[in-house]
Amino acid sequence: MTIKACVFDAYGTLFDVAAAAREAATEPGREAFAEHWRKLAADWRLKQLQYTWLRAVAGAHTDFWEVTQNGLDWAMEASGLGGDAELRERLLALYFELSAYPEVPKMLAALKQDGFATAILSNGEPGMLDGAVQSAGVGGYLDAVLSVEEVGVFKPHRSVYEMVGQRFGTAPDEVFFVSSNGWDAAHATGFGFTTAWVNRAQEPMDRLPWTPAHVLPDLTTIPDLVKAR
Ligand code: LAC
Repeated sequence: MTIKACVFDAYGTLFDVAAAAREAATEPGREAFAEHWRKLAADWRLKQLQYTWLRAVAGAHTDFWEVTQNGLDWAMEASGLGGDAELRERLLALYFELSAYPEVPKMLAALKQDGFATAILSNGEPGMLDGAVQSAGVGGYLDAVLSVEEVGVFKPHRSVYEMVGQRFGTAPDEVFFVSSNGWDAAHATGFGFTTAWVNRAQEPMDRLPWTPAHVLPDLTTIPDLVKAR
């Protein structure tokens, strides 16, 4: 067994990022929003991520909560919802307490039982990661929650992936890294981690210099894969 630590991206990987908009759409009085929520959720996520990349390249870091709000403001305006302050507040509150995908607790418990270190490695700022970890009830299965705020730059900057070795004393090839973001899994592969891309939406492979070692429909098989390495 060469793998010592299993490390997870947070948003979209352990936590369901579409849940905020999906849940708000079911609330009474939001019939108009119910028509827009899918586009809004997709725009919100895409803009949020674009802003992280642009800020990393430009050396203009701010925290992920700010970028999450900036992405939401763009997405709401694009759907003609720009003036709805109450909806904005509700969506942000729901984003702070996202639920985990259903297989997450059992999967993390199996990794812990097999003796692996477990962690989150995320763009999220510590407060929002803490909110999601607590509302999803998975804190007891995690040895560390690592936020890019420690290094002041977003993924896929190398210094983010280096945080894992600094925390656990592991070499890159002793780390199994899991992300639902194809670009994150690709860059983590380039860094030297063994990687799995969780491709729930069956998207095409990102055209980047590296490809993940595994492509999975969900997180269920992670403990078996990690044990087998
Ligand atoms: C994260 C984003 C990229 O949690 O999903 O780091």
